[in-house]
Amino acid sequence: MSKIIENSKNDTENKKTRIAVFVSGSGSNLQSIIDNIENGTLNCEISYVIADRECFGLERAEKHGIKSIMLDKKLFGNKLSDEISAILENNIEKTDYIVLAGYLSILSESFISKWNRKIINIHPSLLPKFGGKGMYGMNVHRAVIEAKETESGCTIHFVDTGVDTGEIILQIKVPVLSNDTPEILQKRVLEKEHILLIKGIKKLIEN
Ligand code: GRF
Repeated sequence: MSKIIENSKNDTENKKTRIAVFVSGSGSNLQSIIDNIENGTLNCEISYVIADRECFGLERAEKHGIKSIMLDKKLFGNKLSDEISAILENNIEKTDYIVLAGYLSILSESFISKWNRKIINIHPSLLPKFGGKGMYGMNVHRAVIEAKETESGCTIHFVDTGVDTGEIILQIKVPVLSNDTPEILQKRVLEKEHILLIKGIKKLIEN
């Protein structure tokens, strides 16, 4: 009898949408996902946190009891995507969608085709502006200020085989102020990223 109850509980649990979150850095976007799951705003679970290097994002996962895996980009090189696939397909933890939350490695074309329209990325600019190779982290905000833009923002988009070229899902605009440094602008954009990412995930899993 207890076994039946246990199984049916597992069946129910397994029906919940599960996302894998990929990180490379501080993981503040990951923290926003965790907080919004814990406060009931986001109706999903995190199957894995996957990192391509040692980073604070892994510590955040550990603190919240989330399975985390570090697959070192330097060690796996162009076999990195295959290693990730092996984990996601092992059926121990079901994964429905992938969220790139500050993940800095490029995933292979075959990986992306396999997860077509199931991978989203957050980018700290108003794409298509200030996207592409080399446009990550502070480089983006530096370029925005150098170009004398009066507004910047953040974008959630599907991941395709290009860099930051996938279909845009949602954006939030942020003003660029005359005395902004890249660091100040980054902080203002990041606050909005934390909100936008939750909206983007909701849209993805409710579709
Ligand atoms: C964010 O600005 C995100 O847009 C970019 O990398 C940064 C990651 O920040 N892709 P965090 O690790 O979530 O704090």
